[in-house]
Amino acid sequence: MADKKIIAVVGATGAQGGGLARAILADAGGGFAARALTRKPDSDKAKELARHGAEVVGCDTDDAESVKKAFAGAHGAYCVTNYWEHFSVDREMAQARNMAAAAKAAGVKHVIWSTLEDTRKWVPLSDDRMPTLMKRYKVPHFDSKGEADGAFRAAGVPTTFLLTSFYWDNFIHFGMGPKKGPDGRLALTLPIGDKKMPGMAVEDIGRCAYGVFKKGGDYIGKTIGIAGEHLTGAQMAASFSKALGREVVYNAVTPEVYRSFGFPGAEDLGNMFQFKRDFEDYYCGARSLAVSRALNPALLTFDGWLAQHKSQIPIE
Ligand SMILES: NC(=O)c1ccc[n+]([C@@H]2O[C@H](COP(=O)([O-])OP(=O)(O)OC[C@H]3O[C@@H](n4cnc5c(N)ncnc54)[C@H](OP(=O)(O)O)[C@@H]3O)[C@@H](O)[C@H]2O)c1
Repeated sequence: MADKKIIAVVGATGAQGGGLARAILADAGGGFAARALTRKPDSDKAKELARHGAEVVGCDTDDAESVKKAFAGAHGAYCVTNYWEHFSVDREMAQARNMAAAAKAAGVKHVIWSTLEDTRKWVPLSDDRMPTLMKRYKVPHFDSKGEADGAFRAAGVPTTFLLTSFYWDNFIHFGMGPKKGPDGRLALTLPIGDKKMPGMAVEDIGRCAYGVFKKGGDYIGKTIGIAGEHLTGAQMAASFSKALGREVVYNAVTPEVYRSFGFPGAEDLGNMFQFKRDFEDYYCGARSLAVSRALNPALLTFDGWLAQHKSQIPIE
């Protein structure tokens, strides 16, 4: 452990950070050690990481001092926020500022900030193609992360800005999978028209992040985007049909209809999908499959992800 470079992993008990922690732990000779940060060191997930060799350290990103202590002595830090836990842009940005300040104070040599686009650079608040939400945002959970890029720059920490992609795992955990329609057929409902959307297995985000740390300083100061594939709704529906052995049709609704679905975050997600649809060239272009595969040769395709996870997809 002493001769290994410690990576402090925020969110190690979650999806993104968990993938990174597992990638580090699986590569015993790779020269890195995983420090798993969590608010609940006694949880089963934390204990599982410890069993596999991670150092588990208590940390709450709402508490600046606890992050400083947790980052002390680390070579690298993976910084992620969980907007969906609280739906607060201000809290997400404060957490990012706490992590940036802690990385600076601890002299961390390489931070990866898990970010997304500030969509207001493409769709200013005055653009009424989509509603402005919370008075200041178009896609709150994207805009806050993009705005928080500035916190890492202002703190002067060596940072890689990692643009992630839609998790295919949302089809399992986020209620976005195929559902039976009034005609009894399974339908995949998305408001992206005939455009391609970058997606990936969430486990691959961590594996790609590990690839970034292994490249040393190559990506410091840079923004890189990752994805497993860029696929249309129709292509994803066709893959579902093949994997599930049942017809799945693509139900292309408008973003207006998606925003009206009424579940928590529906307007935010409706705007998000519209952004991806309306700026397909930029959005796919910013997430290179070749770069992702170079960072992580195990990168899954959608069919590969389905082969591993099809039994977990809830279908009524
Ligand atoms: N779903 C998608 O398609 C998608 C795509 C791109 C980006 N994202 C973004 O991904 C983020 C969520 O990441 P995820 O999916 O890895 O989350 P997750 O699986 O829900 O896990 C959340 C993790 O964050 C940790 N955490 C939350 N609040 C914390 C705090 N105050 N202090 C310390 N740790 C804290 C939790 O640790 P403990 O509970 O153990 O403390 C847990 O490990 C969201 O912001 C979302 O916008 C999602």
